[in-house]
Amino acid sequence: DNQYNYDYDLLYKLVLIGDSGVGKSNLLSRYSNNDFQINSKSTIGVEFATKAVKVDGKIIKAQIWDTAGQERYRAITKAYYRGAVGALIVYDITNTKTYENCSDWLNILSTNLENNDIVIGLIGNKKDLQHQRSVPIEEAQEFARNNQLLFTETSALSNENVEKAFTQLITTIY
Ligand code: GTP
Ligand code: MG
Repeated sequence: DNQYNYDYDLLYKLVLIGDSGVGKSNLLSRYSNNDFQINSKSTIGVEFATKAVKVDGKIIKAQIWDTAGQERYRAITKAYYRGAVGALIVYDITNTKTYENCSDWLNILSTNLENNDIVIGLIGNKKDLQHQRSVPIEEAQEFARNNQLLFTETSALSNENVEKAFTQLITTIY
């Protein structure tokens, strides 16, 4: 959706974080381009995409940054987080370890922030894989509540709640 790309009222930098393989890049490509890759490669370095959203008559350009979740790339510089007004911490509902690591990601996020004025959302992705679920929704909801995070379960594959998760983050920032 490029219809507003040449002009906007506000620019919001948003960052995606979470373990490797949870679906960060596919959430971004689904949201920005309605694209999904069944065999996507692990992200190397930093990529970003933009999307224009209208809120309250204002055109907001969301500039969404995506990077590698792999441990060996985890020494991301502060530059990745600098100026971010929103963050989505993503886990995979079929992989408990990726959920447990969300508190580490929350710590990484807070140590890298220069001002604490950021809205954070917790995303349980791969909602389409219900039969393989290992993270109960109630548990994640409680973790989100205790840490003042927005919370949504999404599927980048089936395109469920993807737009909702980003829109909720953007409108909360606004
Ligand atoms: P890194 O770049 O290594 O940090 O991984 P990532 O978080 O960007 O994961 P990526 O988007 O590359 O997705 C990893 C794998 O999960 C790919 O094979 C995707 O096709 C798959 N995947 C992503 N989202 C979903 C989803 O909602 N449902 C299902 N079933 N598979 C998904
Ligand atoms: Mg990726």
